[in-house]
Amino acid sequence: MNKYINDNKDRFINELLDMLRIPSVSADPKFKGDVLRTAEFVKQRLIEAGADHVELCETAGNPIVYGEKIIDPSLPTVLVYGHYDVQPADPYELWTSPPFEPVIKDGKIYARGACDDKGQMYMHVKAFETMVQTGNLACNAKFMIEGEEEVGSANLGIFVKENKEKLKSDVILISDTGMLGNDTPSITTGLRGLSYVEVEVTGPNRDLHSGLYGGAVANPINILCQMIASLHDEHNHITIPGFYDNVDELSKEERAEMARAPFDLDRYKKALDLTDVHGEEGYVTMERNSIRPTLDVNGIWGGYTGEGAKTVIASKAHAKISMRLVPHQSSEEITEKFKKHFESIAPASVKVTVKPHHGGEPVVTPTDSIAYRAAAKAYEETFGVKPVPVRSGGSIPIVAMFKSELGLDSVLMGFGLDSDAIHSPNEHFGIFNYMKGIETIPLFYRHFAEMQQ
Ligand code: BES
Ligand code: MN
Ligand code: MN
Repeated sequence: MNKYINDNKDRFINELLDMLRIPSVSADPKFKGDVLRTAEFVKQRLIEAGADHVELCETAGNPIVYGEKIIDPSLPTVLVYGHYDVQPADPYELWTSPPFEPVIKDGKIYARGACDDKGQMYMHVKAFETMVQTGNLACNAKFMIEGEEEVGSANLGIFVKENKEKLKSDVILISDTGMLGNDTPSITTGLRGLSYVEVEVTGPNRDLHSGLYGGAVANPINILCQMIASLHDEHNHITIPGFYDNVDELSKEERAEMARAPFDLDRYKKALDLTDVHGEEGYVTMERNSIRPTLDVNGIWGGYTGEGAKTVIASKAHAKISMRLVPHQSSEEITEKFKKHFESIAPASVKVTVKPHHGGEPVVTPTDSIAYRAAAKAYEETFGVKPVPVRSGGSIPIVAMFKSELGLDSVLMGFGLDSDAIHSPNEHFGIFNYMKGIETIPLFYRHFAEMQQ
């Protein structure tokens, strides 16, 4: 297989570049046409790669690309999940080259979606092509590539519930996470859940002169800031009553095990130009960003933000707030607790509304399963070292549903790096990582099939 991969390397890269040129931003309706073109692109490439029954499954939102190759019903079936939608590329001015005109610099592909998730998803299409073309497909394969991951996967949730028979398989295989480093491969064994809300604080019924009214009426921006600040105490614990109620506390042994994963705090700080890190008392950085729940403001606005100075008390202030959840918090319960608490701390001088956005449940995947062991063996062969299990702080909302609705565990074989700048300007994906993915994935199929026997 390695010869086939090497011989076709340039084409594998160029096809990815073609897909990266289509701006499939799911958050913004103005890209709807491009989103549909990307779905069509993935469909065509899957057909060319050798998949059967490839179709676009319509949903209330963006279509899901489905395809399969059943070579022998007695073999295990791998269901590949990925997403072809991307995050908005804003702010465009911070990109050193345009986000939808991919370029290769220093062995890395720069474009929105290069890593998250077009590059990583496409590794599976090319790995599949390689297995089919070289007669090495060791499992039945199913593909389910969606176009709404970056906006919460609500329609995929419905699709999964309605298509349990079609999606029947033995394991879900996903490359939409990262690894510790190019010489420290890792397998993601957990994802955090998410509650996302938008809040609005209303003071007076119109913007006011801040001299004539200042000091006498509530300034919604001041109030919003006070309210947000009160959501953490001096130990950086979250103050929402009941927020930690069901949080799964790790044992001493589990935390000691976690601490064995390589992590260099100085390098971490340097990479982000930080003089110090910040987080919940009693936990180290690797714990704070994976096994602990959090609350963060993602955006805050109101009042005058244009050139110069305008003396004004705004009528309204807004913020978007996300909470990352860990087992066994529930997204719905946390959103409800947030809403109740936030409304209760509002002074009588303002009105507050809390609007929930999408959410998702946290998940932990087993490390003693056949699937995990098959993945670990595959990484060990291509990287020359055993991969480290690592719980990630990010979220892929559908993964918990794969477990609850289909009864299936997922294997999170990520090949990205934290430094790939996903969701940020200048997102990129190493060609080394792309090719390693294409090499490693077929070995997973092989070992998964062998270990089933
Ligand atoms: N692929 C990411 C999630 C991710 C990245 C997990 C790296 C682990 C390591 C996914 O596309 C993503 O961005 N998810 C969102 C949630 C979604 C509901 C918008 C997230 O985590 O913010
Ligand atoms: Mn992703
Ligand atoms: Mn993403």
